[in-house]
Amino acid sequence: MEIRPARSFRGTFNLPGDKSITHRAFLFGALSRGITTIEGASGGDDCTSTRRCLAALGVRFETLPDGVIIRVHGDGSLRSPAGPLDCGNSGTTLRLLMGVLAGLPFDTELSGDESLNRRPMERVAAPLRQMGARIETSSGRPPVRVFGTTLRGASVTPEAASAQIKSAVLLAALRAEGRTTIHEPLATRDHTERMIRLFGGQLRQQDTSIEIDGPQALSAAHVRIPGDPSSAAPFIVAALILPDSEVIIEDVLLNPHRVRYLDVLRQMGGRIGTEITSTSGAEPSGRIVARTSELRGIMIGPSEIPAIVDELPILAVAGAFGQGRLEVRGATELRVKESDRIKAMVEGLGAMGARISELDDGFTVEGGASLRGVAVRSQGDHRIAMSLSIAALGAVGATEVEGAEVVSISLPGFFREMERGAAW
Ligand code: S3P
Repeated sequence: MEIRPARSFRGTFNLPGDKSITHRAFLFGALSRGITTIEGASGGDDCTSTRRCLAALGVRFETLPDGVIIRVHGDGSLRSPAGPLDCGNSGTTLRLLMGVLAGLPFDTELSGDESLNRRPMERVAAPLRQMGARIETSSGRPPVRVFGTTLRGASVTPEAASAQIKSAVLLAALRAEGRTTIHEPLATRDHTERMIRLFGGQLRQQDTSIEIDGPQALSAAHVRIPGDPSSAAPFIVAALILPDSEVIIEDVLLNPHRVRYLDVLRQMGGRIGTEITSTSGAEPSGRIVARTSELRGIMIGPSEIPAIVDELPILAVAGAFGQGRLEVRGATELRVKESDRIKAMVEGLGAMGARISELDDGFTVEGGASLRGVAVRSQGDHRIAMSLSIAALGAVGATEVEGAEVVSISLPGFFREMERGAAW
């Protein structure tokens, strides 16, 4: 994809449904008795991976113009699949399914593409084993073999602050006999907890601990999925860094765990407003407005990382277009995402002329250097492809983003939307 510099970035955007919530809506719909209706599901490749795996487990999806329907009759047990489940590029699919499958009476093998097959899975297998699960990883990575068995509640402390680990344990706990307690190192996105309640389940939360009693049977629900705030982030940063710009993002998820990056951008000097317009359903949603701003670097420490982990690549771009030093520490999780996102951003932004340096646990960016268009690589990572594309809008000369098609993992229409907002 060749991207030319833009003069400004303006427009009103209505983005597809949140990726994290869509995965969960498909899973909970498949596990709950009755007819679940899902409005606004993400059509990105990752959520399609979840849907494809559930279909292989015998779940029937119907797609209508205004949503997706999942009908579960009787006790709705999932069936043993005909072969290994392919989770594509999606860590959420593989990890959450580990929690679902651990307590079912059949064996399954889960794997994914080259990137997913490099990612750590023991962090999920270990707490599930504490609950009695029988799981084998391949030197810690996929393929993962789950030998279904009966589960019992346990008290678990995940090794990383990860919503995927927490969610896998919660899904297993719904089938386990007795009480499961999860002690998170730091709070992470709470969509699974909200969805358990929406589907009629019960749990208790206090600070970063969650208690859930099993087994629990869930019943079907209607899920309305607001726009994905992580997909909004590149367009918001485009408006902040380009002159004479303003974007309005309508009907976007405003869950506090997911829009912390807006607070970080505000701390950097970003002129950003939010307004909650709906609290109906399980999640708050509303509008975000962002305008051209004078940005400056700040220090971002370990306790802030879980809530902004998906937005750190685009925050690096904001730092490069600001003044002063942006420093990110305590972010080693970035090294085990779809790519090593520290290396990927240092390589990409560095090649464009940004003064960005790699640290063991993060990076620093000295703002103020002018960026030039060169050839950069997405490293097969959707968030890297989008972040470098936004940097390209503010560079001098055209940038070629290699492997840009990977944006379809979370936002297939990314380049169409970017084209709509950019004035060339
Ligand atoms: C996700 C959780 C995060 C995030 C990922 C989606 C989820 O991963 O990076 O894109 O839907 O639960 P971790 O929980 O492993 O940090």
